[in-house]
Amino acid sequence: MAVVIDGKEAAASVIAAVTEATASLESETGVKPGLAVVIVGNDPASHAYVNSKSKMAKQCGFNSIQHSLAEETTQEELEELVAGLNADPAIHGILVQLPLPKHLKAEPVILSISPEKDVDGLHVVNAGKIATGDLETGLISCTPAGAMLLVNRIHGRDLSGLNAVVIGRSNLFGKPMGLLLLAANATVTMAHSKTRDLASVCRNADILVAAVGRPQMVKADWVKPGATVIDVGINRVPAPDKGDGKSRLVGDVSYVDAAEIAGAITPVPGGVGPMTIAMLMANTAIAAYRAAGKTAPRF
Ligand code: GUN
Repeated sequence: MAVVIDGKEAAASVIAAVTEATASLESETGVKPGLAVVIVGNDPASHAYVNSKSKMAKQCGFNSIQHSLAEETTQEELEELVAGLNADPAIHGILVQLPLPKHLKAEPVILSISPEKDVDGLHVVNAGKIATGDLETGLISCTPAGAMLLVNRIHGRDLSGLNAVVIGRSNLFGKPMGLLLLAANATVTMAHSKTRDLASVCRNADILVAAVGRPQMVKADWVKPGATVIDVGINRVPAPDKGDGKSRLVGDVSYVDAAEIAGAITPVPGGVGPMTIAMLMANTAIAAYRAAGKTAPRF
């Protein structure tokens, strides 16, 4: 039976470290980290995410500002708001919640954020730094940074000799995750929807990371005995056993069966999920330290 990797506990320890670092920065320099979260439109799930980000920022001792813009906001208006936040010395981190309403293009908005305030780590400058192996001077995308922290808890920081397979090649997660594993010396395979015989590719993985967005797609017989399984999926599925019209969250891995084979596994919920917000807070504290001319802590 696998070790269950407790993302809630890991996230709480990151948040405690961020809160402490925030208090030291403020007492030494008078600088309080400022995080601006921007949301456009009325998507309830996005509003719930954004509210929890703003709440956590306050809990860390940040100056937390939320901009809730109407659905019909134009590209120009959104980019003007970002330009104002770029120029505001009290703001160290800017996050524009995705997805944006259909009439807006995300890419130019992300590129309009100053890379040093891009706490989501999505700007090409930050993505490029990871790609070139510079993990020190940029900002690393939050979900891969959080997933990596969980991998490091099991295997340490050096993954020499280990095979890692990442299923999914998105800019938001799969690509940066593959690069972080590579930077830690793992031998990395990036698998995706066009990969032939995915099951046997996965069976080679000492570290198997699933980010496909398909409920319970990764079966127990895809898992190498003793492997570490990191499940990034969050899928809502019907749960008639809980009552009429009820649902539950499941990951991309068939958890109960895979936990019999794996050495360590993240649950859903309570695995990678809580790490995303924790690493967003870490990135904001790092950006504020750098803006104050101080060496940023590592989280
Ligand atoms: N929507 C879902 N996850 C994320 C994230 O990590 N960052 C942003 N900006 N939007 C998201």
